[in-house]
This record gives sequence, structure tokens and C-alpha cells, in this order.
Amino acid sequence: MDRWEWKPATVGEALQAAVSFFTQSEIPSPRLEAEVLLAYGLGVSRAGLLAMLRDQLTDAQQARLGELIQRRLTGCPLQYITGRQEFWGLDFAVTPAVLIPRPETELLVETALALLGRQDRTAWIADVGVGSGAIAVAMARERPRLQVLATDLSEAALAVARQNAKRHGVAGQIRFARGDLLDPAIDAAIRLKAVLSNPPYIPSGHIPSLQREVAGFEPKLALDGGEDGLDLYRRLAFKAGLVLEPGGFVALEIGYNQGEAVSSLFAAQGFRDIGLIRDGQGHDRVVTAVWPGGKER
Ligand SMILES: C[S@@+](CC[C@H](N)C(=O)[O-])C[C@H]1O[C@@H](n2cnc3c(N)ncnc32)[C@H](O)[C@@H]1O
Repeated sequence: MDRWEWKPATVGEALQAAVSFFTQSEIPSPRLEAEVLLAYGLGVSRAGLLAMLRDQLTDAQQARLGELIQRRLTGCPLQYITGRQEFWGLDFAVTPAVLIPRPETELLVETALALLGRQDRTAWIADVGVGSGAIAVAMARERPRLQVLATDLSEAALAVARQNAKRHGVAGQIRFARGDLLDPAIDAAIRLKAVLSNPPYIPSGHIPSLQREVAGFEPKLALDGGEDGLDLYRRLAFKAGLVLEPGGFVALEIGYNQGEAVSSLFAAQGFRDIGLIRDGQGHDRVVTAVWPGGKER
């Protein structure tokens, strides 16, 4: 955006200009994004923004809004600018150290809750690759008797997840551990009722062709699933059997075309009752599998 063109006198003019820049840059939902961004920049709600369209902007406000719009035009996702994303009806803090939680992942939470049932006894589950904490926090909120072991390789992601657990009053139910996949559970000899994960599952070679918001801004560690996208499932299929209780289960988010491959990996390790759950678009999105018995460590 050329700074010379940025001279809106009122909030309404700024909004109109932002919508037009975003439309030209083919940002999806340009009006919605412009409203959210300007409301954030002015420290008001969206309704508040719409009530002040005729207000004059101060020079400082004009400059701030210009900077925010330019940042969005570089491809930086709105959520990294505003520092928030809603998931499971809760407001999550997000930073560029974590994947922005996606609505599809709510299907994983729904599936895990259905498999757990009421869960009135205390039990441990794991959220492998906790990122912002979306899955761990939602599960802890829904099932107060659960203890969640939340692992991640990224210390910066764990810090964001801790902040979100505190924000939503479930810090006491979640143990955060830096480590590879389920190693923290293996090391602490924790037996798990369930292993949940939305692991990185994009084949390495596909990452550059993703939307620029994803490829250029979201952490590679949260996206890269190795050459065929299945690296983490392959290793999880082995490790989950070491820590699950008999009758415990895994519930994993997958890429739309990975259902068969991930099911086979878990079947090959001795998991049973493998299930594939489709999302609202009709794509395979969650794999579930039950661990029948113990395995020598
Ligand atoms: C796709 S993101 C999911 C984040 C969050 N659970 C969600 O659903 O929004 C995957 C996460 O796994 C973490 N991760 C990648 N490799 C890992 C590994 N080997 N062990 C543990 N965590 C890992 C990444 O740092 C990232 O936070």
C-alpha cells in the first residue's frame, strides 16, 4: 500500500479504504477482516466501530490503522495481528509461535468427548503437540475430572498454551511438558485413557504451495509432516501403545486424504475398532482407534 494514499479523515473512510485494499489483494472476507482489524486498532468492539463511522481520526489513529492494514497486506494472518482466535466458544491468545486453531479441530474435541462419555472418574489423557492449547483447554473445561498431559517440542508454544489454560481456569488440570510426542508420558510412567493429537501432517514438499498466510507465517514445526505427511502418525502409532490403558483410544486429526493410510498404520500396530469421521465438507478428518491390551516397554 502506498502511504500517500492513506489519508482517511473519518473511521468510515478508513473502513472503506481498508475493504478496498483487502479486496484488491484478494483477502477472503475483506469487509469482515477490515472491521475486525480497525476495531482492534481503535480498541473498540465491532459494534462500537460501526457506531463511530463518522468520528474524525486523530493523526495517531490514522497512522496506527495504516500500519495494521499494511501488516495484513503482507500476508500476516489477522489472528497474529490481533493476538486472538476463538475455539470451542473460548477466546484463545495466539502468537506466531503457534498454529492458529482451526474450526475443523472442534470435530476432534467432539469425537473425544463422545468416546470418553461422562468420565466421572479421574483419568489422564494426552494432547500431543498442544500448540495454543486449544484441544487441551477445551477438553479440560468439558471434563473437570480429566488430567491432561500437554506436550510440544516448542517451548514458545507451551508458554502460549499455559497462558490460555490460566485464562480459562484449567491450569490445575493440565501438565505441560516439552518433549517429543508421548515421551513425557513414557518418562513419567503415566497411563493414558486417551491420546489426542492434531499433529503436523502436511507433506514437506506441499508447504510452499499453501496459502501465503499459512506457508509464510505459521510455524513450520506445526505444519511439516515429513515427506509423505505421515511421519508423526507413524511414530505415534508405535508410542501410543506404550502408554495407553487397555481399552484406551487415540483420536487424531488428519489431512483430507490421509484416512486410509493413517488407519492402516494404527491397525498394523495392533489397534482395533478403527473409525473414520468426516467433517462438514464430507472429508475424512478424524481417525479413532482403540488399544486392546498392554505392550512391553
Ligand atoms: C498442527 S499444530 C496443532 C496445535 C494445536 N494442537 C491445535 O490443534 O491447534 C502441531 C503442534 O505439534 C507440535 N509438534 C511438532 N512436532 C512435534 C513432536 N515431535 N512432538 C511434540 N510436538 C510436536 C508443533 O510445535 C505444533 O505446536
